Amino acid sequence: MSEVHVLLLPGDGIGPEVVAAAQRVLELVGHRTGYRFVFSEDLVGGAAIDAYGTPLRDETIEMALRSDAVFLGAVGGPKWDHLPKATRPEAGLLRLRKELGLFANLRPVRVFDPLADATPLKPEIVRGVDLIVVRELTGGLYFGQPSELRREPTGRWAIDTLPYREEEIARIVDLAFQLARARRRKVTSVDKANVLNTSALWREVASEIGQRYPDVTLEHALVDSCAMRLVARPRDFDVLVMENLFGDILSDEAAVLAGSLGMLPSASLHGQPPQRPGSPAVRFGLYEPVHGSAPDIAGKGIANPIGAILSAALLVRWTLGNERAATAIEQAVEETLASGARTADLARPGEPAMGTEAFTDRLLERLASILSA
Ligand code: NAD
Ligand code: IPM
Ligand code: MN
Repeated sequence: MSEVHVLLLPGDGIGPEVVAAAQRVLELVGHRTGYRFVFSEDLVGGAAIDAYGTPLRDETIEMALRSDAVFLGAVGGPKWDHLPKATRPEAGLLRLRKELGLFANLRPVRVFDPLADATPLKPEIVRGVDLIVVRELTGGLYFGQPSELRREPTGRWAIDTLPYREEEIARIVDLAFQLARARRRKVTSVDKANVLNTSALWREVASEIGQRYPDVTLEHALVDSCAMRLVARPRDFDVLVMENLFGDILSDEAAVLAGSLGMLPSASLHGQPPQRPGSPAVRFGLYEPVHGSAPDIAGKGIANPIGAILSAALLVRWTLGNERAATAIEQAVEETLASGARTADLARPGEPAMGTEAFTDRLLERLASILSA
């Protein structure tokens, strides 16, 4: 039986609530498919600041490197918002992504049919949407130097910078093309080439990479009108690839299509290979829902666990390479929604809503029967 070592980093707010749901899903998949998941766990973000005075310990990075995959909940919250940028919970997550070399953040957005009317948009606009935001994750505006906020007697002053080297653009765009080949063969490269130099370079490099994929259509889109098209004509899109901050923003916008920010999963790939001897993993990855710690609902047991559960499906797909089990998890999500089960974020006003655990119980029943079919 292959052992799969997963480091759980539940983090803050609703992080622990949704990670618990995803862990139950992985355990069931393990029992039914012959993997033995071995979980270790550590603190990250605000929880690590409270316990150790730092949002990410070196020991945690070492634990991650000894694992086949990392599964993270969310970090941050009002308790730590007063801290300077470098010591905030969010800085821990950024350092983890950077040190693990996870430059490719995949954020699939699929509208499940039972939720076509759960969005404030018209159902006929969102029905059938199946796109993926490929967000560059270790460069761009998030990591540019200088980045500084100065409070001087003459006034306050701040700067952030947006650097990209051509190799950083080439590798993420290339990955987008590879993904498109297994999908509907269309890449939308998103930039602000009418204003930014980095975007002019991005566009040049994307066009060069595109020449290697004559079977895939490449479209360049300016980020502002692309944001508009994403809600007006979302079915136009297959694979979208973009700079770090653009990807952060457009993926939360795309969550509206899916019915809730609680729906979206993510996989951060292309990190260092596992250092554990005999590892069955085909690819190391960090998996996390797209949403944050949701301080407004934390501790109430009402968070939507689907983003985390679909992130578990991505772990099964990308780290284990088990497409069948990954699809089974996604099918269980769809069938659970089709049965009428809804967490509060998805329920219509006045309609009953299920808590995180009750929803996960229902989903596990579906998953068990799908996996034994
Ligand atoms: P958020 O994603 O935490 O919440 C935005 C809104 O969506 C809230 O109303 C929240 O209740 C709702 N929501 C989010 N996830 C949900 C779920 N699973 N089920 C039901 N409703 C859900 O964004 P925010 O409020 O802007 O940020 C809160 C904190 O989270 C900040 O400290 C931020 O830095 C952090 N954050 C962390 C991550 C991460 O760890 N990857 C991502 C985004 C934000
Ligand atoms: C995300 C989050 C993070 C980001 C924050 C918490 C640093 O918003 O994962 O989307 O901006 O990347
Ligand atoms: Mn975000």
